Amino acid sequence: MKHIEINIDSALSFIDEANQSKYLAKSVENISTLYKGTGKGNDFLGWLNLPSEITEEDLKDIEDTAKGLREKLDVMVVIGIGGSYLGAKAMISALSGSFDDFSNDKTKVVYAGHNLSEDYIHELLQFLDDKRFGICVISKSGTTTEPAVSFRLLKSLLESQVGKFEASKRIVAITDRSKGALRTLADQEAYKTYVVEDNIGGRFSVLTPVGLFPLAIAGYDIRKFVEGAKYMQEDVKTADENNIAVQYSNVRNLLYEQGKKIELFASFNPKLHFIGEWWKQLYGESEGKGGKGLFPASVDFTTDLHSMGQYIQDGERHLFETLISVNNDKHNVVIPSDDADLDKLNYIAGKRVGFVNNMAEKGTMQAHIDGGVPLINISMPEINEYYLGELIYFYEVACGMSAYVLDVNPFDQPGVEEYKKNMFALLGKEGY
Ligand code: PA5
Repeated sequence: MKHIEINIDSALSFIDEANQSKYLAKSVENISTLYKGTGKGNDFLGWLNLPSEITEEDLKDIEDTAKGLREKLDVMVVIGIGGSYLGAKAMISALSGSFDDFSNDKTKVVYAGHNLSEDYIHELLQFLDDKRFGICVISKSGTTTEPAVSFRLLKSLLESQVGKFEASKRIVAITDRSKGALRTLADQEAYKTYVVEDNIGGRFSVLTPVGLFPLAIAGYDIRKFVEGAKYMQEDVKTADENNIAVQYSNVRNLLYEQGKKIELFASFNPKLHFIGEWWKQLYGESEGKGGKGLFPASVDFTTDLHSMGQYIQDGERHLFETLISVNNDKHNVVIPSDDADLDKLNYIAGKRVGFVNNMAEKGTMQAHIDGGVPLINISMPEINEYYLGELIYFYEVACGMSAYVLDVNPFDQPGVEEYKKNMFALLGKEGY
């Protein structure tokens, strides 16, 4: 069976041979630091063994609850922000058909609580007005303002539509075991709940119900997702220089040290757009501390070759690229021949669109390398639940490992509190 692979040859060619393995030993050592729990933030390592520890009972409970709700709902609103939103959004967008929003045969998942836009929430309330909908509210702390505001509004709409009792049957809360306002409310209203354990931070929670429940509600196979993650758990925990997480951690830290301050997540498959958003949060919030850390950015190709392409090719040389290649498209679309050939495309008639995309990808890789952009290439055999499980777990472990090379705690986010303090003071919240 094929698996996710990494190719760092081009990136290494930008580094003196003598230095190419500078962070290899450190990255290997960081595997033991992570799995033995002897590093910074070691009270937040509950995510490490999630793939192998999840039980049949856990999976069945999620599947059964999701099935019951899918049978009676047209729309499920997933409320959450940051790590309580991006993993589910990334998985579901990667797996969904591009026009699924217009089909009627699936429970649609829509999102709320990830912004404070008045227009967004107004439009959502209007959209839901004549729909059979439910709410999955996710907040580990149970006190985050953005999801709490959306939940209050949506809960009120739902209760006015179907009554308090039926509403309580359509609401699922994913939160702390015992603390927080959401826990108190969920217990009082007897909602179905799932727990996010204390030792799992938001951005590392995709393999808990935070990611699994929305995925199941959207109709995807959570078992395959967990299986892929489980394979990767076995693969990356070996203290070995060929371990793909070790290689990624080594090379990105070498490039950072050489003045490459920006890592660009790039892909030629638009379905991976939100994987890029999830990855940015994972790496930005984990590494960006104490004046250190690569700035994670993302682009979608070929779309952004016609916007950011100029800068990447020819602007300041302070970035490198991590390109996620998908080896196989699901569908086959061939470019037809045209007698008149006015658009001059007959030279590619009979070729698949995917072949043209591949040539664009190859051409871009070479152009960027020639232009001074080191390139890391991660390839996925195809986009499905299994390989997404591999990819997610790979990125999580590599993130912990890489942050330890920088000597920062990957599992806290002290900087996020700053805007909250100002916002609460401006809103007049007691104590601010
Ligand atoms: O990764 C993190 O820890 C954060 O992005 C949180 O997930 C985010 O702030 C939401 O927090 P909560 O789930 O407590 O509402």
